[in-house]
Amino acid sequence: MDIEVAKVVLLGEAGVGKTCLIKQFTENKFDNTELSSLSAQYVSKTIDYLDTKKAIKFDIWDTVGQERFRSIAKIFYKDARVILFVYDITSKKTFDALINFWYEELRNNLTENPIYAVVGNKNDLYMNQQVDTSDAKDLAKNLGGIFQLTSAKTNEGIKNLFDNIGKKLLKPNYKYDENDNIARENYNKKKEKENNTKIRIKKYDNKKNNKNKATQDDKNKKNGCC
Ligand code: GTP
Repeated sequence: MDIEVAKVVLLGEAGVGKTCLIKQFTENKFDNTELSSLSAQYVSKTIDYLDTKKAIKFDIWDTVGQERFRSIAKIFYKDARVILFVYDITSKKTFDALINFWYEELRNNLTENPIYAVVGNKNDLYMNQQVDTSDAKDLAKNLGGIFQLTSAKTNEGIKNLFDNIGKKLLKPNYKYDENDNIARENYNKKKEKENNTKIRIKKYDNKKNNKNKATQDDKNKKNGCC
């Protein structure tokens, strides 16, 4: 049987369940204690895709979500073939951070296109859901990637996630999947436009503030003040 190796990197905010997801995938265990990962951790698991007579050895890097460790993640995701963007379905800010921080960060640092998966974890807590599933599906679609709801607690969705990643990896010439690339390029263009608008608004506000300040300074001078 042919074995392919694929480097997988998990990214996302602290506490979304990255370490637990990987523990469940590799050891079938769920640990309820909140142990913030202190540095990136590495584990590996091989899955046979019997219908294709191929196997994939997933080399998985679990990074730390805490802000002060974010720059370390760059070392790990640079040459990743698969990026898992993990958010917590009960926390809107963890989803927003994928769009506003993590994807921006990758877009500016990657040269190769990896396979993306948007992973909504803690789905066992669906009664406290804060993130609209359709928004997360849209993000995955925009990245030409996979969407999966998971629970590291109940093991929901994790096998399915890696099965779907495997299918994409084993597709001949997966790197050049036209539709995925077109979706991502369009999304990047849209983001670029949004960012430029933000910069223009900021410049305009700064100009306005400077003008107001100058007018106030003139008034103060006239009044013999300051
Ligand atoms: P950092 O290492 O700080 O980046 O956090 P992390 O994303 O690795 O989160 P971790 O796996 O440490 O999980 C954080 C907390 O969420 C722990 O208390 C877990 O028990 C809990 N947790 C993780 N996954 C799930 C889940 O699927 N369901 C529920 N209910 N709790 C979960």
